[in-house]
Amino acid sequence: MKDLIDLRSDTVTKPSEGMRKAMYDAEVGDDVYKEDPTVNQLEETVAAMFGKEAALFVPTGVMANQIALKTLTQPGDEVICDYNAHIFQYESGSPAALSGLQLSLVNTANGLLNVENVKPLIRPKEAYYMASTKVIEIENTHNRAGGIIQPLENIKALRELASRNDLYMHLDGARIWNAHVATGIALADYAANFDTLACCFSKGLGTPLGSMIVSDKEKISRAFRIRKAWGGGMRQIGVIAAAALYAIRHNIRRLAEDHSRAGILADFLAGTGDVDIDISLVHTNIIMFKPLKISPEQLIINARKEGLLISTGAPGFIRLVTHLDFNDEQLAETKKIFSKILKAA
Ligand SMILES: Cc1ncc(COP(=O)(O)O)c(C=O)c1O
Repeated sequence: MKDLIDLRSDTVTKPSEGMRKAMYDAEVGDDVYKEDPTVNQLEETVAAMFGKEAALFVPTGVMANQIALKTLTQPGDEVICDYNAHIFQYESGSPAALSGLQLSLVNTANGLLNVENVKPLIRPKEAYYMASTKVIEIENTHNRAGGIIQPLENIKALRELASRNDLYMHLDGARIWNAHVATGIALADYAANFDTLACCFSKGLGTPLGSMIVSDKEKISRAFRIRKAWGGGMRQIGVIAAAALYAIRHNIRRLAEDHSRAGILADFLAGTGDVDIDISLVHTNIIMFKPLKISPEQLIINARKEGLLISTGAPGFIRLVTHLDFNDEQLAETKKIFSKILKAA
């Protein structure tokens, strides 16, 4: 049987041989005692890459975001974020459930936060009868908006707004690597604008799991307590940290290939005339489109019959995500499958 082509997410990749070898060879210890040398090396390496003092390894991106929000807030505080932000759409109500937070949602065009759409939501400090605005949260790249990159000038202007109003900034940088590779902007230049940031090794970088919270020493030591309290203390987890170190060395620069294949596929889809797609929004490895003659649900079923796994993004949209395990041969095959299923619709 032909292998399925899987474009549902960049989380579907399997660890490569080189990565598995690095995992096998990893030196380990008990990370709850901070005695795992590979985890310690990973935390130091990633903190330095982002120009920050410290970092904390956690199992998932959700845990990284949620612990970061908890370190910055008290119950009853408010976090400003985009309506389509992962922390609002896809984290199971955790800001409310775990930290007693209220989210103040910005209706943006394509997930782009800026001073104009955020400023009106900052509540006056003297309004004791309102929730207290505490954090501005930004997602870069923005998943539900189709992998778009938040312009650095918007981020810098928001940082200034946050500082003027005594607010924190948190970055959901699950795919910050993609923004970095696509723009050439240094990770540290993005990070300089944030008090806490979350990044993932399990998306485009291809590790089986693993995310990081990056911040100053004081916030990371608070995050360390919260991680333990929430059941996230891990033991000989250097086997996974070794995969992340391998990914940092080998899989960041190659993200450009994923972006290039996404661009080619988006152009191809636009050329069929059978989909509604804005190729100017395909900045990185995610493509969003609406099929014109068939429902997204039916397209997903028809694609599966041809050996192509795809899924929905925002309501009404199909989302395709290119990744480490999607090559040129599969790209050619994907185009053929789309030609067939879009024409037959
Ligand atoms: C932008 C963003 N943030 C956070 C996450 C959560 O990551 P995880 O699935 O590791 O919890 C994801 C997952 O896809 C994501 O796309």
